[in-house]
Amino acid sequence: MTDASIHLKAETEVALAAASDLRAWDAVRVSVLGKAGRLTALLKELGRLPPEVRRERGVGLNRLRDELTAAIEARRQALDAAALDARLAAERIDPTLPPRPRPAGLIHPISRTADEIIAIFGAMGFSVAEGPDVETDWHNFGALNIPGHHPARADHDTFYLPAIGDAPPPVLRTHTSPVQIRTMLEQAPPIRVIAMGRTYRADHDATHSPMFHQCEGLVIDRAITLGHLKGCVTDFLRAFFGLSGLPVRFRASYFPFTEPSMEVDIGWNRRTGELGGGGDWLEILGSGMVHPRVLANCGIDPRQWQGFAFGMGVERITMLKGNIADLRPFFDSDIRWLRHHGANPLAPATLHERA
Ligand code: PHE
Repeated sequence: MTDASIHLKAETEVALAAASDLRAWDAVRVSVLGKAGRLTALLKELGRLPPEVRRERGVGLNRLRDELTAAIEARRQALDAAALDARLAAERIDPTLPPRPRPAGLIHPISRTADEIIAIFGAMGFSVAEGPDVETDWHNFGALNIPGHHPARADHDTFYLPAIGDAPPPVLRTHTSPVQIRTMLEQAPPIRVIAMGRTYRADHDATHSPMFHQCEGLVIDRAITLGHLKGCVTDFLRAFFGLSGLPVRFRASYFPFTEPSMEVDIGWNRRTGELGGGGDWLEILGSGMVHPRVLANCGIDPRQWQGFAFGMGVERITMLKGNIADLRPFFDSDIRWLRHHGANPLAPATLHERA
């Protein structure tokens, strides 16, 4: 070994030991093995030596190159291992630490009631139908056997929108019954759907909001009777209010789109507000057998098909179940009210909460 080789080897070993990270290590590697490195320079000198010296020197330099390459590689592995150890130590996760408190969101009472209604009717084999909030006059009134001059129109306090062309002005739907029409136009019977959604009437006080929600039910088949209507609605009300003995009363009434029509009352105590016994009755729902003219308006032959429909106010039954007296805070977005009346999202909507 020449002096130059001996120096190079010793100095490289010292420099490698001093290189404490990959950057320093790489600088050492380049200074030895790189294009302008010291070993490379020694190898280049070989060509200028006389042949008898060159051979022996060549063997020595090749051995030196193998040794230096191995030393450099060994140092890199050591640095890699150290870096990994440092990362593992720094990124350690302590699973015993308590979680940071995160406030849970709550379900709005209307959404909660909607989920419960859908769960109950879903269990009875109903699917969910939808329709637009802005309706044509025909879907909201005409097809439902409420012509332009009909007195029922006056009861609806309708919001009319600007007319387009010669057609009657579109309306914000005053009930979910137009979804019946859309469903019958789109779907051949048998039909078993509920429709849930926003409805609008120009009315505002402690129990009325210009925007509110209704749930509509529609069943059409070949042999559906008033008995099915009574059973279905009774089962629903008892499941929803969680009272298996809830008194339910059907009272003759009138809707243009059903014949016969019935209003449905549940038993309660007017004085205490408690549902169930008590001897008083509270109106809760409109219903009836779908009028043959409504079926015909939707292209369904009333001599082959018949069925029932019902509609109810979602806020109303939510207020009754939750013992909430005022409707207005439902839409005020007051976080204190929402915290008080909101439902736990982790508790599923069950059919019987207090049987
Ligand atoms: N659409 C009626 C209302 O808004 C309720 C209803 C629906 C009545 C279906 C009978 C059948 O009052």
